[in-house]
Amino acid sequence: MKSAEKTADLDMGDFEMINGPGDGHDERPKQPTKGGTGSPKRRKGTIYIEAQVKPDYTGSLAKITTKLEVIFRSQCIHAVELDHEMIGEDLYAECFFPDCLHSLKAVDIVGTDDDYPFILVESHTVEINVYSLQDGKAAKTQEALSLCGDAMLLPSVGFGNAFEGLIFDGDIKQKLVVFMTNLLRFSCKPGHSSSSTVNRLVFLSGPPGTGKTSLSIGLAQKLAIRLNKTFGETILLQLNAATLLSQYFGQSAVKIHSIFEALAAQSAETPDTLLVLLIDEIESLAASRETASARNEVHDAVRATNALLTGVDLVRTNANVLIICTSNLSDSLDAAFIDRCGRHIRIPQPALAARYEILRHSINGLIEREIIKTPKVPLPTFRNAEYRIPTDFKTAGYTLQSLAYKLEDTGPAGQVVSARWLSQLAETALADELEPNAPPCTVADALELMSRYVKEVTCENKGSKRSQGTVATEYDGSVKKRKLQLTAGSSLSPVRVTDAHLFGETRSADLEGRADECIATFGEMEAEGYERSPEDIDYIAEKVIDQWQFNGGCCCYEIIGSRLRDYVEHGTPMNRDVSNLYEGSFILEFLEPHPSRDATVLIRATYKHDHPLCKQGKGHPQAPPLHLHFNQSETFQVLQGQVATVEGWSVATTVYTREDGPHEIKPWVPHSFNPVPDSPEDTVVLVWAHPDDVDEMMDRVFFTNLLMYVSDVHEKKVSLNPFQIMLTQHVSATAMIWFPTATWLGPLRWWVPWKVQALFAAAGRLIGLTPMMKRYTSEEEFAEIQKTKRT
Ligand SMILES: Nc1ncnc2c1ncn2[C@@H]1O[C@H](COP(=O)(O)OP(=O)(O)OP(=O)(O)O)[C@@H](O)[C@H]1O
Ligand SMILES: [Mg+2]
Repeated sequence: MKSAEKTADLDMGDFEMINGPGDGHDERPKQPTKGGTGSPKRRKGTIYIEAQVKPDYTGSLAKITTKLEVIFRSQCIHAVELDHEMIGEDLYAECFFPDCLHSLKAVDIVGTDDDYPFILVESHTVEINVYSLQDGKAAKTQEALSLCGDAMLLPSVGFGNAFEGLIFDGDIKQKLVVFMTNLLRFSCKPGHSSSSTVNRLVFLSGPPGTGKTSLSIGLAQKLAIRLNKTFGETILLQLNAATLLSQYFGQSAVKIHSIFEALAAQSAETPDTLLVLLIDEIESLAASRETASARNEVHDAVRATNALLTGVDLVRTNANVLIICTSNLSDSLDAAFIDRCGRHIRIPQPALAARYEILRHSINGLIEREIIKTPKVPLPTFRNAEYRIPTDFKTAGYTLQSLAYKLEDTGPAGQVVSARWLSQLAETALADELEPNAPPCTVADALELMSRYVKEVTCENKGSKRSQGTVATEYDGSVKKRKLQLTAGSSLSPVRVTDAHLFGETRSADLEGRADECIATFGEMEAEGYERSPEDIDYIAEKVIDQWQFNGGCCCYEIIGSRLRDYVEHGTPMNRDVSNLYEGSFILEFLEPHPSRDATVLIRATYKHDHPLCKQGKGHPQAPPLHLHFNQSETFQVLQGQVATVEGWSVATTVYTREDGPHEIKPWVPHSFNPVPDSPEDTVVLVWAHPDDVDEMMDRVFFTNLLMYVSDVHEKKVSLNPFQIMLTQHVSATAMIWFPTATWLGPLRWWVPWKVQALFAAAGRLIGLTPMMKRYTSEEEFAEIQKTKRT
């Protein structure tokens, strides 16, 4: 659905109408922080918003910036999600963005401890950078700088997504941008000599193909956007040290000197222009003079190193000059060069999470190019793929994760694979295996071909000694060292193997079935006087593990372990409460969520497909009205059968099946779901609410109360009390949606029902109701809730 469009020269007054009523004092719950909601120590971070204008826009960027600042200040946009396009996005349909915008995204959040996909705008400072992409025309510079090839104006069309497309473990990219932005800020105003004591010289080192050159270019592109209010223009100069040395053998020192002199002159001539000099493969210029002398290679190489060092010193005080150098070999560089680097960043080979994401991005690239068919559900992100449960092994996300996992040390030559190799794997495998006239293949086929290709390459290389040069040999040592560090829990690796929660080709039902058989055997023995003992855990575990290994194996000891303990120690059936609701058409079970789900509740719901109530689809009494949650996502996953969802402001209906994997409904997204009337089998769905560190949450007590109460009302066991329903719902930070498609109502669509609900809830409390009803809440839980209320 598209919003009503307005032109770029819209009057400021036009933005007034998009203000939500109650601005500044609405009752929306505050966004949680990892460290605790509402903590007085909480830092107010900055959200960076980037707005790219359309190529034909020639007007003022400053004017658009002001307009966007008004929009963000007016609270038309309550929440943003990082890297999500806002233009044309349903969620922002009621915001009148200027027509001249091609793209509008929140790209970064800095200076806050929040780790939440949706960021509330009002609790952050918003920094907006509006930019237009340059079409690759060369900039005019000093003549000597032509040794660096064409001087390129940034941000450039050619480097469109250079920064965003790079994937690293940890937050290397974000930290680097923040560091450089600050350093350039500390270096005083443009036009004045730098007062910073730190050299604006960044050195990126690491194995081949880890993205050093790409990161340097991406960084320059990013800074050109991020700092465009300080520097009106940014120019990128690229110097390949190895080429320069070979081309001008004997005169390289003179050439280097002339480049730096020209750079200093250019900097003084255009003080409002940021000049970024990228020196790739710096080892040719900055090789250790000590080693060179020992090898009697004194002349050209040593003079080149000297020229580089004096050159760096020459532009030290030019506040608008930034130098980025890259190299594969940091150990053999001259100590005086390393000492001059304001920042030395070592880029490692990608660990599991980065490997997965690089592969996912390259597959998505092939989908865009229509070499692979668009799947019904996109491949999950690494984080979402981790929500897997034991029945997920057939999904593409699982296969991709297994492949990324296997690629730990099965690269083409038996070593850790590089990001470059990974980014090419999908295309290489498909080019190798597909017939020239083959139609687009499915994601599953592509993954199969990729796995097969990896296997073949690994086999080919097995036993054959590598024929790589000295650089590669040198890397073997460092790679092995890094692997050891990673398994010891290095911060470089966000995922430890034991946390990887890898499932084999196992169905949870098989494991449970095996455990049930054992429990039944113990049950028979109990009848003859046998007493349960902790040793029984070992016995059952052994049987389950046999079953599990027979099916391929998994690392999910925790779930199985805790279930078995419950069986034996408390005699509870798999830690599950089972309720038959709505005349037996709906079975509600609460399961213990695995910690990796970060969930406050995990439900397994079953719709009995042949029950007349399920045949009513949206009319099933359990199907909730359209609503949204402020704080938590609700993710559901179909294990069997089909479920229908209504989602988004456009109230689109989608049917999900087991093949679709987990589907997350984010906070602030209107939704509802219901059984599919003509489902050929019972539908089993897992539903969980996350994250678990929010103030007002959906938990087991909430769902029990709401679902059981509505079921009892339906079965006429109790009479309907609207105050009770509103009160129970109100404490879970949930609001109904009225007239979802009436975009002109803007936030009123949830605000008015929320206020009405608040009114009913307050009245309910006045007449003595409590959100959680005694008849549906266990004594301990009820006492706990009462206690919290008193304190
Ligand atoms: N971290 C990464 N994420 C995604 N793709 C990457 C990454 N690193 C490298 N690539 C892919 O590999 C290609 C080559 O990367 P790049 O030339 O920047 O590596 P490099 O570290 O400079 O290699 P070398 O040391 O050989 O010069 C990139 O164009 C990109 O497609
Ligand atoms: Mg490179």
